[in-house]
Amino acid sequence: EAESQVDAELDLEVDDVELINEGTLTVCSDVPYPPFEYYDEEGTVVGFDIDIAEGLASVLDVELEVVQTSFEGIQSGVALNAETCDLAISGMTITEERAGNMLFSDPYLDDNLGLLAAGDAGIGSLEDIDDSINVGVQADTTGEDYAEEQGYQIRSYPDSGLLIQGLESGQVEAAIGNISILGYQAGEDDSSEFVEEIDTGEQLGIAAQLENQELIDVVDEILAEMESGGYMAEIEDLWFGG
Ligand code: ARG
Repeated sequence: EAESQVDAELDLEVDDVELINEGTLTVCSDVPYPPFEYYDEEGTVVGFDIDIAEGLASVLDVELEVVQTSFEGIQSGVALNAETCDLAISGMTITEERAGNMLFSDPYLDDNLGLLAAGDAGIGSLEDIDDSINVGVQADTTGEDYAEEQGYQIRSYPDSGLLIQGLESGQVEAAIGNISILGYQAGEDDSSEFVEEIDTGEQLGIAAQLENQELIDVVDEILAEMESGGYMAEIEDLWFGG
């Protein structure tokens, strides 16, 4: 069960779209990835992406169902092609390679990578990363791509919860991931610190099946209304503000 706490109204009429399960917008997301999607104390999935999904569902006048899906399955397009969900919303960066396997919406958020390090690892910048440093990343992400390009000593974790645990337990001395999640993590936990932003100029998008232009057109229409009507500003403040 997902629940929205947003006040901004979404006054918009859109064309009917065909959904996998009539009356329900089914969304694939890889949880945990706070503050985009994570389980709160009651086990409810909440976050920035979830509020976007709630907004989409409310305009479509349907229920929202969030299906926990591996990021591997999301970013490869496999989950969408298997019709596990209508849309994937998962803090996912729009890349050329992925765009060959799925249809992206207009970007809904800008993002960069960032470096997080254990407080006692003596890492003051990217320059301090050498072969003696184990760098943790989430598998199949842009953070992993970057770490591979740099030739770092990599340990890949299947999800971002395990990545953060790996850093906290000393399995890795550093982690590379999107700044939007690493900044949040460093704020939550004293044993690791945010070191440096890596300017990759990423943009996050919502994805549908490659053939489903009809659905993506409606998503883009609703995203535009979220931008102009204050909904986006409200949820950015809610999840990323101070
Ligand atoms: N933005 C990065 C990418 O698309 C990481 C996204 C990870 N998302 C998640 N829900 N675990 O590669």
